Amino acid sequence: MDVIIITGGSKGIGKAIAKKYVNKNYKVYSLARSTSDLKKVTQITVDLSNLNDTEACFKNLLEKIKKQIITSITLINNAGRLGKISTIENLTSNDITNTIQLNIATPIILTSLFIKSTQSITCKKQVINISSGAATKPYEGWSVYCTSKAAIDMLTKTVASEQKLIKNGVKCIALYPGVVDTNMQSQIRETSESDFKNLQRFINLKENKELYTTEFVADTIYKIDTENRLENGAIFDIRNA
Ligand SMILES: NC(=O)c1ccc[n+]([C@@H]2O[C@H](COP(=O)([O-])OP(=O)(O)OC[C@H]3O[C@@H](n4cnc5c(N)ncnc54)[C@H](OP(=O)(O)O)[C@@H]3O)[C@@H](O)[C@H]2O)c1
Repeated sequence: MDVIIITGGSKGIGKAIAKKYVNKNYKVYSLARSTSDLKKVTQITVDLSNLNDTEACFKNLLEKIKKQIITSITLINNAGRLGKISTIENLTSNDITNTIQLNIATPIILTSLFIKSTQSITCKKQVINISSGAATKPYEGWSVYCTSKAAIDMLTKTVASEQKLIKNGVKCIALYPGVVDTNMQSQIRETSESDFKNLQRFINLKENKELYTTEFVADTIYKIDTENRLENGAIFDIRNA
C-alpha cells in the first residue's frame, strides 16, 4: 500500500493533491476541519491548530496505518493560513498564535511523530512541505505568514540533514506552488490596499487568468515526487519545473 497523509486535503491545493494521488490508487488520508466530496479519500476531521487533538489524532492514525503492509509513505504538510493581512502592529496575539501553530508548530510536530513512528519501516518515506515564495520575499502585511514559510524551509533543510546521516532515513523537501486559484487568493483580493500594498498585483493575476489551477499544481507535485526529481533537503519552486 502506498500511503499519503495530507493536511488540509479538504480544499484548494490539498484537495487537488488528494484527488490526484487517490486516482493513482494511493491510500490517501486527509486531516482538516471539514471534509470534501472526495469519496475514496479517508477524511479525518481535526483542528490542526489544537495541539492535543492534533497529536492524539495523528498518533492514532499512524498506529492504524502501520498495521498494513506499506510500500511507501508520505506526509504532506499542506494546511496553512495567512491570518489577518495587515502590518504587524494591527495583528492580535490570538491571530498571530493561530498562524504560528498551524503553519509551523503543527508541521514540526507531525514531522517529528512521523519520523519516530516510521523508523522501523523500510520503504520510500518522505515529508513534503508546501511552502511559499513568501519564505524568501518579504510582503508587507504578511509578516507572520512569511516568517512561518521561512521556518518551514529551515525545518526542511535541518530534517533532511539529520535524516541523511541515518540508514533508511526520511526524505524531506519543500515546494513553492506558485500563485494558485484557491480561497487563500480570494482572501488576499478581499483585503484593502491600506492593509496590503501588493493588492493590485494579485487582482491583476486573477483578472489576467495567470493563477495556477490546483489541478496543475497537483499534477506537477505528483510528477516531481514519482519521478524522484529532487534531492533530500531541496526547496523547489514549481514555476521552475
Ligand atoms: N494559494 C496560493 O497561491 C498559495 C501560494 C503559496 C503557498 N500556498 C500554500 O499552499 C497551502 C494550501 O493553501 P491553499 O491555497 O490551498 O489554501 P486554502 O484553499 O485556504 O486551503 C487551506 C487548507 O488548510 C486547511 N486548514 C486551514 N486551517 C486549518 C486548521 N485549523 N485545521 C485543519 N486544517 C486547516 C483547510 O481545511 P479546513 O478549512 O477544512 O480545515 C484547507 O483544506 C498552504 O500551506 C499555503 O500557504 C498557497
